[in-house]
Amino acid sequence: MSGTTPTGTTPTGTTPTGTTPTGTTPTGTTPAGTVTLVGAGPGDAGLLTLRGLRALQKADVIVADRLGARSVLEQLADDGVQITAEVIDVGKLPGHHPVPQDGINELLVELATAGRRVVRLKGGDPFVFGRGREEQLFCEQAGIPVEVVPGVTSAVSVPAVAGIPLTHRGIAASFSILSGHDQIEQVPGAGDHTVVLLMGVGTLAHSAHVLAAGARGVDCPVAIIEDGFGPRQRVTIGTLGTIAHLAASRQVRSPAVVVIGDVVALAFEAPSAGSDGAGRDAPPAPDAARRTISSRWSDALDAGLAVDTGLIQAVATLKPASDRGIRSSLSSLSSLFARTR
Ligand SMILES: C[S@@+](CC[C@H](N)C(=O)[O-])C[C@H]1O[C@@H](n2cnc3c(N)ncnc32)[C@H](O)[C@@H]1O
Repeated sequence: MSGTTPTGTTPTGTTPTGTTPTGTTPTGTTPAGTVTLVGAGPGDAGLLTLRGLRALQKADVIVADRLGARSVLEQLADDGVQITAEVIDVGKLPGHHPVPQDGINELLVELATAGRRVVRLKGGDPFVFGRGREEQLFCEQAGIPVEVVPGVTSAVSVPAVAGIPLTHRGIAASFSILSGHDQIEQVPGAGDHTVVLLMGVGTLAHSAHVLAAGARGVDCPVAIIEDGFGPRQRVTIGTLGTIAHLAASRQVRSPAVVVIGDVVALAFEAPSAGSDGAGRDAPPAPDAARRTISSRWSDALDAGLAVDTGLIQAVATLKPASDRGIRSSLSSLSSLFARTR
């Protein structure tokens, strides 16, 4: 494996406790090192857990994915946090794995067998589309003890940055998290069952088409949040009927989280969210909430709007807009313009 020197030494030249510089004990046996799978969160160092940070500070070597994990290490360094471990970048980006999974598994065992304290730093949570359990099992089968430090998954935290909860009293009480490659046809429920797609950009048009044909219908709200917590963070909001077109015209790129369901109407950027008293701080009574949100949303659609951050897309007005719909949409327009200037 290029870039690794499993000699049991750290970059500062110190050796793991009780080992010689070659990774062997004074009696000649090789001590087992350890592997800690740490969830780095969605890419903001503030969302790394304290336990994860402590593991990084104690590590001899960190095997890091690029998405989320590397930027967290860079932010910690910028903040003056001392991490002395060697960092090995296994460069996992969506659809692009310079080190294949088998190679990563073997690298972890190789490093730990040499007596090193290894942190495997993975984006989000290691057990949410992270192959964390595979890595854990592979190490354990080789006799390496593994600790898992859960992380903040992008599936929940990235929608939150756009003001979208996955559940909200009276609007949605359940959710499914799928990868864009999963069987979208099998997703249960309607707009009150939130769907979160990870790795869903490439298959978005297909997913939207399939879900629109079911109980959700073409008017079901959809949000795409690109690069949550990162420098390219951007929110695009439409419906199952408009989102594929919006995503193409905006050149939406991975990494992105797609949220489908009535909760999208609560997004900071959604048409008139929170503008008429049914605000996020004081949820309306459950029975009223869903009606209020969906009526706000359809008012905006009646007025012919699909909304995204920094860009207003006027779409064909299919039905005469109600006065309330126009007022609501105008208020959305002015607040969006104010925000994007
Ligand atoms: C292989 S999955 C890993 C998910 C990760 N284990 C987690 O819990 O967040 C990678 C996908 O997570 C999503 N993702 C991760 N970080 C993201 C971010 N900061 N912004 C938007 N999407 C993100 C994207 O859908 C991306 O394609």
